[in-house]
Amino acid sequence: MPGWEIIDQKERDKILEIFKVSNGVLFAHGFDDRRKNIFRVRNFEKKICSKLKVKYCVATTSGTMAQYIAMKAMGIKKGDEVITQSFTFVATVEAILALGAKPVITDIDNSLNMCPKDLERKISAKTKLIIPVPMLGNPCDMKKILSISKKKKIPVLEDACESLGSKYNGSFVGTKADVGIFSLDFGKTITTGEGGLIVSNNKKIMDFCREFHDHGHKNDKKKLRGQDTRKIWGLNLRMTELQAAVGIAQLSKLNHILKKNKKNKDYLKNKIARSNYFEFRKINSKDELADTLIMILKSKKHANRLVKIYKKNHISTKNLPDAIDWHFAGNWEHIFKDVTKYQYNYKFCWSKSRDLLEKSVAIPIYVNSSKKELNFIAKLTNSFFSNISENCKSQN
Ligand SMILES: Cc1ncc(COP(=O)(O)O)c(C=O)c1O
Repeated sequence: MPGWEIIDQKERDKILEIFKVSNGVLFAHGFDDRRKNIFRVRNFEKKICSKLKVKYCVATTSGTMAQYIAMKAMGIKKGDEVITQSFTFVATVEAILALGAKPVITDIDNSLNMCPKDLERKISAKTKLIIPVPMLGNPCDMKKILSISKKKKIPVLEDACESLGSKYNGSFVGTKADVGIFSLDFGKTITTGEGGLIVSNNKKIMDFCREFHDHGHKNDKKKLRGQDTRKIWGLNLRMTELQAAVGIAQLSKLNHILKKNKKNKDYLKNKIARSNYFEFRKINSKDELADTLIMILKSKKHANRLVKIYKKNHISTKNLPDAIDWHFAGNWEHIFKDVTKYQYNYKFCWSKSRDLLEKSVAIPIYVNSSKKELNFIAKLTNSFFSNISENCKSQN
């Protein structure tokens, strides 16, 4: 699954280098002599640009703040409508609310990502931004979403927090929208403990992001930090050298993570016998980040029964169903109690999404899964579906 599985000597060595070579300078800027002119956050950003083939990258404290900064840079302000999807982590909507903007939420389709048809229906004169979220490695239908964005002249910010490394039509997710963001928290493809990334080819937006995340510092190379110039105010949302050191080590493992995930997911998928009692989630690309296998069953009752069998056999599942409360808008009373549009009806607004999510089971795919472990999952799954099939036949 994610980078945490393969944290080893490499991350440790990169951290120790800060002390051995750069006299323990943990701050991203200044102290040029003391740090021997090695700037790890800046190097990490450059490496992300070259890996994702994008012009600009700003590293931040978290994915949530990456989204906040990027939205601010895109001019989102109080009262603007921002469209995102019903299946996402709460953070996507929290960042919208933190700017005083109004979340408008679409249903998902059987890829469990934004339904482009519903997106088109939800666009109004007040819509200022579209935020599709490629969930659990699966790219969104960006062809349709970008064509709607173009037609309606509304920019797109891709919340690719859960999908670093996934590709759509040959490009990394997060790089074809106006702006993309990623999370580097401890559950993600690669991790820095906490952390986030903003990427874009738009210089104006990225200049704002760089300045805003650093109290407005323009980082003029000819000036000392204390004499640096500024044109906007900002906040401190900077990544530290410690995080960047780990990030650089993790990034060097990204290809390995993607390859192993794909191999393990393909293996498991092939071992699970097809049945009329479930379908796999629709995947929008052959180059997805393969860190999750999702089955959509016939009913919530079936899904709960399968999860019970997995749990009994010490097989974990992911946020479907374990953390559905944090990932489905229809369960967010704490958020919508203050949002007029959804205050009284949030439970009923996205019934198609609720139905799909409540009958879905997400199996984590680990980088280090053995064939024996994958065979065991497949065996349990196959016997579950053949039992259902037998029971149904005997009832008819
Ligand atoms: C879809 C999505 N958006 C945003 C975030 C927020 O990222 P972070 O935890 O780095 O703030 C997450 C993290 O789980 C996420 O999954």
